[in-house]
Amino acid sequence: MVAVLRSEYDDFTPEPQGNSTRAVHDGARRAKAFNALNTPIVQTATYTFRSTQDLIDYMERKTWGDGEEREEYGRYGNPTIAAVEQRLAALEGGEDAVLYASGMAAVTSLLLSVLPSGAHIVMTDDCYRRTRQFCLTFLQRLGIETTVTPMGDYDALEAAIIPGKTRFLISESPTNPYLRIADFDRIAQLGRKYRVRTLIDSTFGTPVNQRPLEYGIDFVLHSATKYLSGHNDLLAGVVIGSADRMKALRDARGVLGGVVDPQNAYLLERGIKTLGVRVAQQNTSALAVARFLDKHPRIERVWYPGIASHPDHHLAVRQMQGFGGVVSFEVAGDLRTTGKFIDALRIPYIAPSLGGVESLIEQPALMSYYEKTPEERLALGIKDNLVRFAIGIEDTDDILNDLDQALALI
Ligand SMILES: Cc1ncc(COP(=O)(O)O)c(C=O)c1O
Repeated sequence: MVAVLRSEYDDFTPEPQGNSTRAVHDGARRAKAFNALNTPIVQTATYTFRSTQDLIDYMERKTWGDGEEREEYGRYGNPTIAAVEQRLAALEGGEDAVLYASGMAAVTSLLLSVLPSGAHIVMTDDCYRRTRQFCLTFLQRLGIETTVTPMGDYDALEAAIIPGKTRFLISESPTNPYLRIADFDRIAQLGRKYRVRTLIDSTFGTPVNQRPLEYGIDFVLHSATKYLSGHNDLLAGVVIGSADRMKALRDARGVLGGVVDPQNAYLLERGIKTLGVRVAQQNTSALAVARFLDKHPRIERVWYPGIASHPDHHLAVRQMQGFGGVVSFEVAGDLRTTGKFIDALRIPYIAPSLGGVESLIEQPALMSYYEKTPEERLALGIKDNLVRFAIGIEDTDDILNDLDQALALI
């Protein structure tokens, strides 16, 4: 092991490896330069050729004359980005990964790359509203129809598949804001039965808590803006899967253009190194918060897959190593009372997003669904008293004490 760690330029591949070892080492050795420990930020839009013959050699073999891999233009490839992609593929147990400029760039690029016109998608509800919006409006304009089925209803999911026409089953796990859990086994089985590709948006899950590819899911997607980067300082997205599918996506990214900036790729790589310890702390605090709120008289209902009252608790226990860092709950009170409680909190910031070191809190009725009427919000399942608490890495007791004092004020 020590000998492997000291061999400077080889990829780090001893077995067995835990996720935290992979998170610190995988892919990093590929881009070493000047014996520097950290992956260099190759901040360039293009790459030069030493001579016309070098160019011809590259066009023939896509390498320098000495066989070294090289890049041609920033939209097609970058060593910093490639190092992060390799690390993320290792963490998810995939063969390869393709990094994008945001989670939505990953969603839109993936679907635009693989779907033919006239295709049909089946998607579970309670998933990220912009993904749903992209499918139901943008893809519809291109002649691609989407059927949305209730999360957890696998008969409806199967019934919605049109054999020969449906190309994609899209689900998310845990979902936002109710933290519903998708059954990866059942979704993968449906995919195989009807020859439909399957996608899980695993943003809320993280590769620390779940690894959908191991169940036979075809594509895993993350908004790397969240837990993977972990510091609320960048936007990025990633798709992970088999080598041939990722090659097709990488080629398509060169056309669609949603490439991430090398500086952000570096920051993402730095964030990934602490993913294991951050997520472990967030799992611990979130479970403690869910249990605390579940017993609190001023809380009507808690949504967290780690507690027995959640509809998918048993599935979560079977499928997840930890239940994640987001807890949703309903305050005993109306829109104003709920706002008063949030304003009384001292630790979390009021902000959208999740997965960073700082706790963030929001009232979905006022954040993501502000423009809707109360009736429209209710139809979408968004109650006025619903709170989404994305827990950071602050001390668990401080978070609990903060909730306690704020609830005492309403
Ligand atoms: C589950 C999920 N998927 C995708 C996205 C989109 O990611 P990004 O904001 O990085 O574009 C988000 C953003 O909140 C998300 O929560």
